[in-house]
Amino acid sequence: MPACHRGRTTLWLAIAFASLELGLITGGAEAECPDTKCGSVDIPYPFGIVGQDSCATMPHFKLHCNNSRPFLGDFEVLNISLQLGQLRVLNRISSFCYNTTSQEMEQHKWNKTLSAPFRFSDTGNKFTVIGCRTLAYITDRDARYLSGCVSACQRDGVTGATNGSCSGIGCCQTTIPKDLHHYQVSFDKGLNTSDSMYNATRCSYAVLMDSSNFNFSTNFVTSSEFNTTNGGQAPMVLDWAIRTPNNCDEAKNNHTSYACKSDNSKCVNSSNGPGYICNCKNGYQGNPYRQDGCQGPPTADLKHGPQMPELRRPPVVDLVRMPPAADLKRGTLGGRVT
Ligand SMILES: *[C@@H]1O[C@H](CO)[C@@H](O)[C@H](O)[C@H]1NC(C)=O
Ligand SMILES: *[C@@H]1O[C@H](CO)[C@@H](O)[C@H](O)[C@H]1NC(C)=O
Ligand SMILES: *[C@@H]1O[C@H](CO)[C@@H](O)[C@H](O)[C@H]1NC(C)=O
Ligand SMILES: *[C@@H]1O[C@H](CO)[C@@H](O)[C@H](O)[C@H]1NC(C)=O
Ligand SMILES: *[C@@H]1O[C@H](CO)[C@@H](O)[C@H](O)[C@H]1NC(C)=O
Ligand SMILES: *[C@@H]1O[C@H](CO)[C@@H](O)[C@H](O)[C@H]1NC(C)=O
Ligand SMILES: *[C@@H]1O[C@H](CO)[C@@H](O)[C@H](O)[C@H]1NC(C)=O
Ligand SMILES: *[C@@H]1O[C@H](CO)[C@@H](O)[C@H](O)[C@H]1NC(C)=O
Ligand SMILES: *[C@@H]1O[C@H](CO)[C@@H](O)[C@H](O)[C@H]1NC(C)=O
Ligand SMILES: *[C@@H]1O[C@H](CO)[C@@H](O)[C@H](O)[C@H]1NC(C)=O
Ligand SMILES: *[C@@H]1O[C@H](CO)[C@@H](O)[C@H](O)[C@H]1NC(C)=O
Repeated sequence: MPACHRGRTTLWLAIAFASLELGLITGGAEAECPDTKCGSVDIPYPFGIVGQDSCATMPHFKLHCNNSRPFLGDFEVLNISLQLGQLRVLNRISSFCYNTTSQEMEQHKWNKTLSAPFRFSDTGNKFTVIGCRTLAYITDRDARYLSGCVSACQRDGVTGATNGSCSGIGCCQTTIPKDLHHYQVSFDKGLNTSDSMYNATRCSYAVLMDSSNFNFSTNFVTSSEFNTTNGGQAPMVLDWAIRTPNNCDEAKNNHTSYACKSDNSKCVNSSNGPGYICNCKNGYQGNPYRQDGCQGPPTADLKHGPQMPELRRPPVVDLVRMPPAADLKRGTLGGRVT
């Protein structure tokens, strides 16, 4: 038997945040953090930037701004949506490759625990596996939850895979449950490309990723394109919420800690895990977490409404109403702070 090669396996550093209960900083002398930017990404309150220590935000909502790119722990943040209570981040792709020199399979895998406000989004993501003889698992920390999928190709090759179709041939996807806040990938060593297949497909890949814009290409099986497109990462959606108390009814009982500060805000129960988020009431836009954050539509906005004579202006509500999922389907999570 060859020496154990686990030591060589790269385990990317995962920063496990302490599972502190989320509370709200209130009443202190510190001002709320201003809505800001890191590079081109909007960082609206209750998010803030580490280093802006003179302002207050909620625990775990401060991002690192490094070289004009925001990070939540190890995840680069692409977008923040207050309305949906979501973040779009980049997640590392795990791989399982045949090393032609050592003639061994090498795993590069990744595990991560999210801090209290965050959950892996069950509606936005799918566990996605690329490969021709691949069984990859997704588990939480204690493996209380374990799932996975098998991807195969036709015998002795990579044929059978079809562009645009991720349904078991060259590619498979599976959904995840709600309330998942630990993520770990592993590959089944018995399904590998060490014999006969490695010339055609040396690596298999697995990652929890945003499934809305995923378009399988047969090139993902035969080349490193899937891994290189985003520098070894793939976009993923995280859900966030204010986790204590458990829901809107309880939150409204304590006026001091209630996070929906704007008079024109409303409370929305978290759809993934305990807690709640705040939205502006229909007809209002802005930041519901601020005292005067939700504003009626400025008159300029009316220009974007349906073309109608001034007298038959439609109710304000129609002009600003947005189906909550629309942003996500288009692959953009628009923070609505401007
Ligand atoms: C998760 O990653 C950390 C940091 O790299 C590592 O120390 C730990 O062993 C990993 N856990 C598992 C179960 O792989
Ligand atoms: C910032 O990013 C660079 C590389 O992009 C890295 O070397 C450095 O450690 C990062 N700094 C912090 C504080 O994360
Ligand atoms: C393949 O294995 C050889 C010998 O063990 C090692 O030196 C090399 O770094 C490995 N290559 C890759 C790409 O990991
Ligand atoms: C799938 O599309 C890519 C271009 O995106 C092309 O190179 C490849 O040959 C196509 N595969 C098949 C089986 O048609
Ligand atoms: C590949 O899987 C087979 C069983 O299917 C196993 O016998 C073999 O040792 C594995 N090869 C490597 C390099 O892990
Ligand atoms: C893979 O390709 C190399 C070089 O072309 C060749 O020598 C080898 O026999 C091939 N391996 C298999 C299993 O087809
Ligand atoms: C998916 O990619 C293929 C090329 O690989 C392209 O022909 C097709 O239009 C794309 N489909 C979508 C829905 O983007
Ligand atoms: C995937 O891309 C990352 C970043 O470029 C790189 O470090 C890693 O080695 C690549 N993995 C594979 C299997 O090629
Ligand atoms: C309301 O919340 C504040 C701030 O979190 C806390 O200090 C206070 O004890 C809470 N009041 C009640 C009645 O729970
Ligand atoms: C929030 O959840 C609580 C507890 O499940 C429920 O009683 C309440 O009606 C929900 N509120 C809203 C606004 O959906
Ligand atoms: C969200 O990300 C998309 C794509 O990166 C970008 O086009 C859009 O402007 C971003 N929205 C916000 C509010 O940052």
